Amino acid sequence: MSRPAHIPVLRRQVSDLLRLGQGHTYADATAGLGGHAADAARAVGPAGHIILNDLDPANLAAATRAVETLGVPVTPFHGNFAALPAELARRGIAAHAVLADVGFASNQVEDASRGLSFSRPGPLDMRLNPASPTSAATLVASLSEADLADLIDRYGEERHARRVARRIVERRAEQPIQTTDDLAAIVRSAVRGVGGAGGHSGAIDPATRTFQALRIAVNDELGNLEAFVDQVRAGAAAALGLGPGPRWLLPEARVAVISFHSLEDRIVKRGFEAAQAQGVATVLTRRPIEAEPDEVDANPRARSARLRVLQVGIAARPDY
Ligand SMILES: C[S@@+](CC[C@H](N)C(=O)[O-])C[C@H]1O[C@@H](n2cnc3c(N)ncnc32)[C@H](O)[C@@H]1O
Repeated sequence: MSRPAHIPVLRRQVSDLLRLGQGHTYADATAGLGGHAADAARAVGPAGHIILNDLDPANLAAATRAVETLGVPVTPFHGNFAALPAELARRGIAAHAVLADVGFASNQVEDASRGLSFSRPGPLDMRLNPASPTSAATLVASLSEADLADLIDRYGEERHARRVARRIVERRAEQPIQTTDDLAAIVRSAVRGVGGAGGHSGAIDPATRTFQALRIAVNDELGNLEAFVDQVRAGAAAALGLGPGPRWLLPEARVAVISFHSLEDRIVKRGFEAAQAQGVATVLTRRPIEAEPDEVDANPRARSARLRVLQVGIAARPDY
């Protein structure tokens, strides 16, 4: 079956900073289609070990094949990356390097049946894990106007959140909102004429922020990232014998997180700083690393990528 490609972002920077060597263990918290994992597999070689984790079973299977093809031992886990540290510790695996490249892969956004894109007509679903109980349509049908407005304001940073919530509640009283194009049309009609984004040439589609908010809520993206980053701190302490948490990181392990919007990046920044303040890790990236212009030209999705890297223990801070 041919699948649309996903171009991994910041590939060279991730490889340089994770410093993997032959025989190392690499854990990929968000395997996607396995682009970063294949780079790691080449670095660790057949004596190494690649652990792949993803909520999306189809992506996990694709990434597993990509690593297997390279002849490197691979262990796939289907699950939430917030549970990965405990799963690794339970199996007695500690990693030299870990990557979480959060959010969605291009093939997921391009698949209209997942309902992630306001520009692709499809069911209003948005679940990364098809087994999860709550879709975007469920949230849109069941939340109160005030809760919808809060959600769109907080996760979408949409300044017309109250207006959008009111319009959704009016429309759903007439008929259920079940498709991406229904919702996109409702948001556009609420924002149009009040100076919302999209009214100006070159501005983003007015539906962008509301779709982002629903995606974040449906998949608890911020809660999962917070839990993961907190376990990086606890794992660093445990690796140094300074805390009781699960041992899933080796001393001097490196952990890289790539995020795609400011709400996520803030969580990573604060979590990494907390680990450093506790004296169990060193933040290697003074500022988040961003894509070079040539990468953004080739892959516009790279424009919003922000990479932060931490090393377990006290290390010299390179000038990244
Ligand atoms: C940006 S893609 C990763 C791309 C990957 N680095 C590559 O090179 O192909 C993000 C992946 O993370 C997965 N994902 C998002 N949130 C997750 C979570 N909480 N737990 C596990 N996987 C998650 C998505 O299903 C998607 O496949």
